[in-house]
Amino acid sequence: MEQFEGKVAAVTGAASGIGRALADAFVALGMKVVLADVETTALETAATELRAAGGDVFAVTADVAEAAEVDRVGTAAMDVFGGLHVACNNAGVSGGGLTWEIDLETWRWILDVDLWGVIHGVRTFTPLIIASGGGHVVNTASMAGLTSNPGMAPYNVAKHGVVTLSETMSIELQMTHPEVGVSVLCPGWVRTQINRSERNRPGFDPAVEEQVDESEEGLAALRKLVDTSIAEGLQPAHVANLVVEAIRENRFWVLTHPEWQGMVRDRVERMLTGESPWSALPGTELSGN
Ligand SMILES: NC(=O)c1ccc[n+]([C@@H]2O[C@H](COP(=O)([O-])OP(=O)(O)OC[C@H]3O[C@@H](n4cnc5c(N)ncnc54)[C@H](O)[C@@H]3O)[C@@H](O)[C@H]2O)c1
Repeated sequence: MEQFEGKVAAVTGAASGIGRALADAFVALGMKVVLADVETTALETAATELRAAGGDVFAVTADVAEAAEVDRVGTAAMDVFGGLHVACNNAGVSGGGLTWEIDLETWRWILDVDLWGVIHGVRTFTPLIIASGGGHVVNTASMAGLTSNPGMAPYNVAKHGVVTLSETMSIELQMTHPEVGVSVLCPGWVRTQINRSERNRPGFDPAVEEQVDESEEGLAALRKLVDTSIAEGLQPAHVANLVVEAIRENRFWVLTHPEWQGMVRDRVERMLTGESPWSALPGTELSGN
């Protein structure tokens, strides 16, 4: 997609982090943007700031885990702006623990948002983009969608799902609607609020967050590593620029951290040589291993 000005984008998870940076970048390119997020106050702040910067934006409070709420985002794009050309299925949450100890509610919450949220977005937005004459779908996965690092099984499962969903639909669109491109965004660490995802968890009680069970020494260290790495991560604006380039050049893979690519290569080599999986991400060694 070469022409951005006057076109319409929808971004889920637009109130914070990468989603907010994508909205900023689209507004700067002269696009009209539907901002969607489950966190209403932060969403309103984002909309106010983007309008102050001259943006033509429309905010919809929506939980991507609910298909009907994602449908409302698509309807807003068509009713308010008359079309849809770029859809970023970006909303996401993280969490984890040891795979066999993670409670089912946590599994369901992360898969509902990170995998079903993207499925809902693809189902709602792709036909609208086709009906609007073409454009691009961007699904936010993660390097966790290309590797299997410990302590985050639900996140890994969801993000691997987003990668293969994106590959599959990319092939299908090349065969049927080549006017619609697809990109999958696989970032490493980015300076956002992803490590504070519990804030948007249904039934979240801030008092309980302070009492997270960190009796598992390795997991406590892992949590600390994630906090530090995110604080030192890439700026979301840099990631948004990479996404805009990928849309412009119709490029599928958006990997933000070249230095992490060895982990992907190592995983595939182990698969092909029959070696057991191992994590090469420094600092992720769990106690007992
Ligand atoms: N930050 C990183 O290091 C990193 C790395 C790889 C992938 N990602 C992915 O990037 C995406 C954006 O996350 P971020 O890092 O900007 O984090 P963030 O927490 O700053 O932003 C995520 C946004 O999603 C929203 N959200 C959460 N649950 C939602 C729901 N059910 N419905 C609608 N909106 C919801 C939040 O309110 C928030 O505004 C996620 O998919 C995340 O998995 C982030």
